[in-house]
Amino acid sequence: MIEMRSRFILVMPGIRMDIKDLSKIQRPKFGDAQLLMVQVAAAVVNSKAIRKAQHTRRAAEVREWSLMGISEDKGFGQSDPKVVEYAHRVFKPEDPLLTSIREESRRQGLPDIEVGVFDGLHLEVLVGMTGARRVVEIGTLGGYSGIHILRGMQPTGHLHTFELNPHHADVARENFNRAGFGAERVTVHVGPALTNLANIEREAPFDVVFVDADKVHYPDYLRWAMEHLRIGGVVIGDNTFGWGQVYREKGVSDREDQVLTGLRTFNDLVANSGRFRATILPTAEGLTVGVKVR
Ligand code: SAH
Ligand code: DHB
Ligand code: MG
Repeated sequence: MIEMRSRFILVMPGIRMDIKDLSKIQRPKFGDAQLLMVQVAAAVVNSKAIRKAQHTRRAAEVREWSLMGISEDKGFGQSDPKVVEYAHRVFKPEDPLLTSIREESRRQGLPDIEVGVFDGLHLEVLVGMTGARRVVEIGTLGGYSGIHILRGMQPTGHLHTFELNPHHADVARENFNRAGFGAERVTVHVGPALTNLANIEREAPFDVVFVDADKVHYPDYLRWAMEHLRIGGVVIGDNTFGWGQVYREKGVSDREDQVLTGLRTFNDLVANSGRFRATILPTAEGLTVGVKVR
């Protein structure tokens, strides 16, 4: 059993709850089909009602996992807790080192926005499938996804990961070291990724580009990937369901509109530009994956 602890979970961008508070939320008495009907009816009345229904169901799911000893903050794209528990038991997506690295990131005050544990495992396997030696990551945070990526790479490979926040970058370097990845395997570039990417262009072409920061500029990172991946190289984007709102033209704020437009444009380009063959994996967050074809 995985140890239970108090931690924040992300319900929507900017909306976090302490897992302790989840016990105050009742599991809804209706199933998925009924929830959908409620949502459709609510849409006619008020889009805020949809959000509330989603939050309630999401919180109830997370509570059920936590009661089963699964400290998963993002889920697995499966709402049946028994399936989730089964997948955790058999595929063991997170080892104790990675758990401690998430914990260290919390102690250092980093936000709880790493990829979900199964998305981390997906990353390792996807990177392994490409036989990658040269990988680029936009958005390091504490190095959690980067460690998954490094584990999937060839042993001589190098990860270039880009982080705006110097404190995040320091925590990440420390975490990479603890995971056995030193300066010869990983470089953390501090500053805005869009500017700093120019510093690694002479090492192109790359095998994988993983985009996980600065949602508004996802399309710019995709265009960079188009030009700097090898044919057969892979671009991966996290959070591409836009917290369940990706299709919504009008969000609740200008900022949300910009984020959702960024994610939509990213998905449209990777799906329809003719440069990639792409899919969107139905993980909890949505993981877009495209292979460069021309
Ligand atoms: N990939 C990480 C999570 C990244 S969270 C993981 O799964 O472990 C997004 C990170 O991107 C944050 O640390 C944030 O500080 C950083 N960030 C935000 N805007 C950025 C930018 N323009 N360039 C580089 N990093 C940025
Ligand atoms: C946020 C960013 C992420 O990349 C993520 O996976 C979850 C949340 C955020 O900015 O809130
Ligand atoms: Mg993310």
